Amino acid sequence: MQKQNWIIVFIVSGLLLLIFSEIIDAANAPEQKIPELNQPGWTAPSLYLDRSLEGKERQLVIYGEELIANTSKYLGPNGSVAAVTNGMNCQNCHLNAGRKTWGNNYGAVAANYPKFRDRSGSIETVYKRVSDCMERSLNGKTLDSNSREMQAMIAYIKWVGHTVEKDSIPKGSGIQPPQYLDRAASPDKGSIVYNAKCQSCHGANGEGLLSADGKSYTYPPLWGPNSYNSGAGLFRLSRFAGYVRDNMPFNQVTHDAPGLTDEEAWDVAAFVNSRPRQNKDLSRDWPNISKKPIDHPFGPYTDGFTETQHKFGPYKPIIEARKNQQKQKTV
Ligand code: HEC
Ligand code: HEC
Repeated sequence: MQKQNWIIVFIVSGLLLLIFSEIIDAANAPEQKIPELNQPGWTAPSLYLDRSLEGKERQLVIYGEELIANTSKYLGPNGSVAAVTNGMNCQNCHLNAGRKTWGNNYGAVAANYPKFRDRSGSIETVYKRVSDCMERSLNGKTLDSNSREMQAMIAYIKWVGHTVEKDSIPKGSGIQPPQYLDRAASPDKGSIVYNAKCQSCHGANGEGLLSADGKSYTYPPLWGPNSYNSGAGLFRLSRFAGYVRDNMPFNQVTHDAPGLTDEEAWDVAAFVNSRPRQNKDLSRDWPNISKKPIDHPFGPYTDGFTETQHKFGPYKPIIEARKNQQKQKTV
């Protein structure tokens, strides 16, 4: 070899050594102290910095994150573990594997479950809550609670919220609805918003776009046979409008700099949730019907408003009427 070549080899190996020693240093660094960040400033932990779990427990959390980010690869129609879901990923609706502030994250779960939920009229564990999303949002079946996959997803979700104080809800977790309108949300107006701001990714028929290997979506479906069913959280306008206002068009907006006005968010929610989708038997939901959320689109109700008004609003009169009902009860 010529002299110059030896010099290059020498320099490159030196650089490589330097990089490796950096990596090893990082891996051996003393455990990063995680600040006790509760509301309002909570941010999700990072797997690289947070060494609160080690060994098998850490492996389980890492597998859980993978399942939540790439659900379809493991559990979709061609899933490598089981074919029990519709091809969507949990991450489609829980952004950045459920760690994004205002992206429907899991920050509040570890601190608040098990908890009583009116939808089932029972105390729900994290397992029950994950099962709900599998049966509704992923329009599929749940997994055995002892399966490695379920254990991993639960371990991961609990890890995401492990620095959150018991019974507190960090700001920016879950979904926050936009300001209520004084009118009903309009599917017609929403269709104009959809064509202008959503269709380029989600498709003219809300069908989304499958990736080249056909195993998962590059852009997930918003309606039709492969989307969430009528029992899913997003089928309620407040959930859809809140999620979309804070996060869509994807990667172009933030909670503080949204791409839609509140009106546009409600209207596009009304449009998308008026398109056809799979139905779920909801006869066992809300055993106490007076506890149905104002925007639950299926009667019967105790407040005298129609299904249409519950679905599309205006919601303020419903909120007022419920307050008055409450007052009468307490008198
Ligand atoms: C189509 C969208 C969608 C998909 C896909 C989805 N979810 Fe959800 N999920 C929601 C919505 C909406 C809520 C309710 C959020 C709210 O009301 O603040 C929710 C709530 C949850 C909660 C409770 C959060 C809390 O703070 O109480 C958990 C846990 C959860 N989902 C787990 C999962 C898992 C695990 C998967 C994948 C197996 C999944 N979800 C897939 C939409 C979805
Ligand atoms: C630039 C492409 C793009 C545009 C434009 C866009 N989205 Fe999305 N949307 C995505 C991607 C990608 C995801 C999934 C994100 C992930 O998995 O990390 C998503 C997820 C969603 C979801 C949750 C998953 C599902 O399929 O139900 C909803 C609801 C949604 N988008 C609605 C909208 C609406 C309404 C608009 C228009 C206001 C819109 N999006 C505009 C790319 C886009």
